[in-house]
Amino acid sequence: MKNDVLSLEGFTMEKIEGLIGVAQDIKKDPKAYAWDLEGKTLLSIFEKPSLRTRISFELAMKQLGGHTITIDSQSTPMGKKESIEDTAKVASRYADIIMARMYSHADLIKLAQNASVPVINGLTNKFHPCQILSDLLTIKEKKGKFEGLKLAYFGDADNNVTHCLLLGCAIMGINIHVACPKGYWPQVDVLQKAIALASGSEVVVGECPENAARKADIIYTDSWMSYHIKEEEKPRRIRDLMPFQVTSRLMKAANKGAMFMNCLPAQRGMEQSAEVIDGPQSIVFDQAENRLHMQKAILLYSEGIA
Ligand code: CP
Ligand code: NVA
Repeated sequence: MKNDVLSLEGFTMEKIEGLIGVAQDIKKDPKAYAWDLEGKTLLSIFEKPSLRTRISFELAMKQLGGHTITIDSQSTPMGKKESIEDTAKVASRYADIIMARMYSHADLIKLAQNASVPVINGLTNKFHPCQILSDLLTIKEKKGKFEGLKLAYFGDADNNVTHCLLLGCAIMGINIHVACPKGYWPQVDVLQKAIALASGSEVVVGECPENAARKADIIYTDSWMSYHIKEEEKPRRIRDLMPFQVTSRLMKAANKGAMFMNCLPAQRGMEQSAEVIDGPQSIVFDQAENRLHMQKAILLYSEGIA
């Protein structure tokens, strides 16, 4: 069975709760899952750099009894001498699962449409579903629930992580407030989908950081310089986004026990101050660890096992 994971569109609360349950079981007793993907091979393709996604997927596959092959796009003819369609067809003859980190989301869809094996999105410019599935696991562990929580996101919101947070929060009944400057809004089609998915919870985008932070249980930010952003844009982005930096003052505007999240990689002094990310409310390394446990659940789901 081929279960692609390309974005969170099409996911339901039950499906996400199910994946979180599997990830929690695996985290408790990883040895019980040591042979679930015995003899299977994961092919990982990277067009962009990665630390967490690469290591957690490779380790997850190995700890489930499988094999891994990882290639970067520069060392393959994909998209240059060979079409994405042909790459997908060839890779499907060797590997059982493909995980790809690509620039264009349309290219990832093309890869999935032409692969006969499941394709997992390891991040595109538009979506990063595996990150948000594992963040939902982290939120469940820390808060014990989803419904009624408020997550406030600050900074660059025309962003893969923000897009999946909008969809994931809407599906799970978490109120999401995004604070960003003009020109950095989430893409309209994603925002509309999130609003349509939210049954009862709020989906709000605005330009006032204090309003977003008020009564928030989770403060979330992401890089101002995503992998696909050109270096020459940095000075302008710093100028535009600095009013949305997560500082101790902003943390104080949130609920007392609010948690600080960042999917990482992070730059101290950019999207958050050092005292926030290194402070007691930060759970960024728990987030990073949970990538491993959730990747295992995602791999099993892609194969129709979980
Ligand atoms: N959060 C995340 O996806 O990190 P990497 O870019 O290191 O994979
Ligand atoms: N928005 C960031 C996420 C990194 C995991 C990027 O695309 O670089």
